[in-house]
Amino acid sequence: MLKETLLRAIESGARVLKEYFGGRFEISSKDTLNNLVTEVDKRSEQVIIDSIRQYYPDHFILSEEAGEIPGSPEFKWIIDPIDGTVNYAHGVPICAVSIGLEKNGEIILGAVCNPFSEELFFAQKGFGASLNDKRIEVSPLENLDRALLVTGFPYSWENVSNDPVKTFERFVRKGIPVRRLGSAALDLCWVACGRFDGFWEFNLQAWDSAAGMLVVREAGGMVTDFSGNAYSPYQRELLASNGKIHNQMLKALLEN
Ligand code: IPD
Ligand code: CA
Ligand code: CA
Repeated sequence: MLKETLLRAIESGARVLKEYFGGRFEISSKDTLNNLVTEVDKRSEQVIIDSIRQYYPDHFILSEEAGEIPGSPEFKWIIDPIDGTVNYAHGVPICAVSIGLEKNGEIILGAVCNPFSEELFFAQKGFGASLNDKRIEVSPLENLDRALLVTGFPYSWENVSNDPVKTFERFVRKGIPVRRLGSAALDLCWVACGRFDGFWEFNLQAWDSAAGMLVVREAGGMVTDFSGNAYSPYQRELLASNGKIHNQMLKALLEN
């Protein structure tokens, strides 16, 4: 029932993204000029929350725009109603709805849906990961020099010791191709299905990574912080990879 509720909720959000895409909707800035929220984020969020509440009215909800909606602490739904809002607002169809479900502090279910490419990534702890119901696995690549990587940048950064542009530059100077899609949830899922070999980003929020993190792990990949410790969605540093190039990426991330 939890899985069905998750899938129903993500489909309802995804329908809202499709309905408004390319049309007119309100856009406003949040803490920085280009950290956007649109009317569609809020509508998507509302249908997702309503959909979950229909079956589990007392579960805790953490959602990007609505914040924390307190409930029984055993289950927590972690929602990003549009991951990739800047892309969405500009009519770029690289964005997704992301929902993770935490049980007693552990993510047990995750789904990420890009309605424009009609791709639904799903993972259940201990049961593997899938893309449109087909089992997925991370890439078998062993050598960082041949990798295709992806990263993302925070909307702004001041006073951070690990400058995201310098880190990006280090990989690029090594001649390694690095992409920037603009949706952390999709970045993670694209590592999970082997399109990318590795992804790192600094300053993500729980709603960006909760579902995608599980998808990567269940596809056989590894997700840690920049020191190699197991990642939790409540921390800022995220490195995800196919596992085989993880140590090479950690080394490159920490170089100065
Ligand atoms: C953003 C995207 C982007 C990442 C940002 C996130 P949003 O989420 O995941 O790829 O670089 O750090 O905030 O704002 O579109 O939900
Ligand atoms: Ca996000
Ligand atoms: Ca968002």
